[in-house]
Amino acid sequence: MSLDRNAPIGVFDSGVGGLTVVREIMRNLPGERIVYFGDTARVPYGSKSKATVLRYSRQIVRFLKTQEVKAIVVACNTASALALDTIETEVELPILGVVKPGASVAVHTTRNKRVGVIATESTIHSHLYRTLIQAEDPEITVLGKACPLFVPLVEEGWTKDPITREVARRYLRELLEKDIDTLIMGCTHYPLLRSLLRDIVGEQVTLVNPAYETAQVLKRMLSDTGLENPGGSGEKYRFYTSDAAENFDAFARSILPGRVPAAEQIPIEEY
Ligand code: DGL
Repeated sequence: MSLDRNAPIGVFDSGVGGLTVVREIMRNLPGERIVYFGDTARVPYGSKSKATVLRYSRQIVRFLKTQEVKAIVVACNTASALALDTIETEVELPILGVVKPGASVAVHTTRNKRVGVIATESTIHSHLYRTLIQAEDPEITVLGKACPLFVPLVEEGWTKDPITREVARRYLRELLEKDIDTLIMGCTHYPLLRSLLRDIVGEQVTLVNPAYETAQVLKRMLSDTGLENPGGSGEKYRFYTSDAAENFDAFARSILPGRVPAAEQIPIEEY
């Protein structure tokens, strides 16, 4: 199948969080066009089963294919952990998730071979970060901690609030007691807590941002396959949601650079 290098990249997530991945793609691949879908009607994915997340992901992939994308980025850690292994066998397009890029970097940043992963319940229960890290280095101990309160706190805009700080302290205590030297921010929202997490874990712990690492892998993948966009004309960024888009637009404008066009609501269940 021949792909058009001027075509957009399809990026999807359970809601607004995947915009942290969009932000990294915008910064690191400024020539690329993006079609983003946020499943705001069915968020959160982080407490849902594999079968449900797979069904949702398949519908979104079908929608993104109607947008003639040249590649798909699964920006949601939960969907990357629960659905990517199946959908990558079903789609002929290049497709990548955020878990593998984050896991690979952690293998190289840890010196004491003790890596912490914070993520949603479903991502932690999938053990995918651990599986991928130990496939590269079986001597690394991977300690997971689900942090379900972080997503609503970030969406409330409480990224610097003392309450969020206290919640983070409690979540991270156990991992820090076990002497991790690397912490993977394994959920779309967590990079927005970076400075608060940095204060709690201290300078000696490396924070891994899978959103940034995914943009780097995407960049290499597009260049290796001759698919990078030379930066032509055409509408650059388009955003779609499955529920009313006002809150989405406000969040998008608060974290993305430049002019962010309003999102359009689409009936995702019909795909
Ligand atoms: N996007 C999800 C993730 O990265 C977090 C929000 C949700 O639970 O849907 O895992």
